[in-house]
Amino acid sequence: MALITLKDVRKDYTLGETTIPALNGINLGIDRGELVVIFGPSGSGKTTLLNIIGGLDIPTSGKVTVGEIPVSTLSAKWLTTYRKKKVGVVFQFFNLISRLTALENVEYALELIGVKTGSNGDVSFDSKMIRRKAIDYLARVGLRDRIDHFPAQLSGGEQQRVAIARALAKEPEILLADEPTGNLDFKIGRQVLEIMEAMTGKEQNRTVFIVTHNEAICPLGDRVIRLSDGIIAEDYTQTFTPASELYW
Ligand SMILES: Nc1ncnc2c1ncn2[C@@H]1O[C@H](COP(=O)(O)OP(=O)(O)OP(=O)(O)O)[C@@H](O)[C@H]1O
Ligand SMILES: [Mg+2]
Repeated sequence: MALITLKDVRKDYTLGETTIPALNGINLGIDRGELVVIFGPSGSGKTTLLNIIGGLDIPTSGKVTVGEIPVSTLSAKWLTTYRKKKVGVVFQFFNLISRLTALENVEYALELIGVKTGSNGDVSFDSKMIRRKAIDYLARVGLRDRIDHFPAQLSGGEQQRVAIARALAKEPEILLADEPTGNLDFKIGRQVLEIMEAMTGKEQNRTVFIVTHNEAICPLGDRVIRLSDGIIAEDYTQTFTPASELYW
């Protein structure tokens, strides 16, 4: 059975007198452990779709379920719990907290949920464990020597990597990444995809969505969903190509 199910999901944004249909009836079933690339031009609804799956936005109509959780009908309080416990998000525009350093940004995300201490679901709020995990993930994205920098003291690509470390450190069941390579040069961009690939996918049972408008990234997915004007224009599965073999 699919982990994530969307049934006839629509999203309209209203601006004054005009209604902008961002999603026009999306039907999807995503299995646990799938790496899904969502591809499409600017304005096709990629971010809107990601936000709805992540519980950051609610559909105008239609149904979203994740496992047993009826995401589209949760109260605000339960939606927050769902986001905290299940979802890691890398935003298109980073959303780092400007008055916190790189390290504190990652720690803050972990302080909200604790860190897993084993495979039995136990979590710890011990500040030393949180610090160790935060440093570990920042080191994995190549920022060990930037942990005390504030976002304004980091380049765009470095800020992007802090955001990625923050999302991955949660070790979430569902990882949503909106243009994770958008602000990175090729070499770092591919490294980031390699990190995401290594920490996600089948063995880890983690379901990953990577949004991109770069067609060269599509081969990374087990599944590619192409959006066009808020509908699914194409949806196919394939044998994925490892990030290390991608070029753009
Ligand atoms: N908050 C909002 N209010 C009004 N319209 C919105 C809002 N957010 C998105 N839209 C509109 O909905 C459509 C889909 O937007 P969305 O951000 O999902 O596109 P996207 O595929 O992520 O584009 P991009 O590649 O540029 O990030 C666009 O036409 C956009 O202008
Ligand atoms: Mg977008």
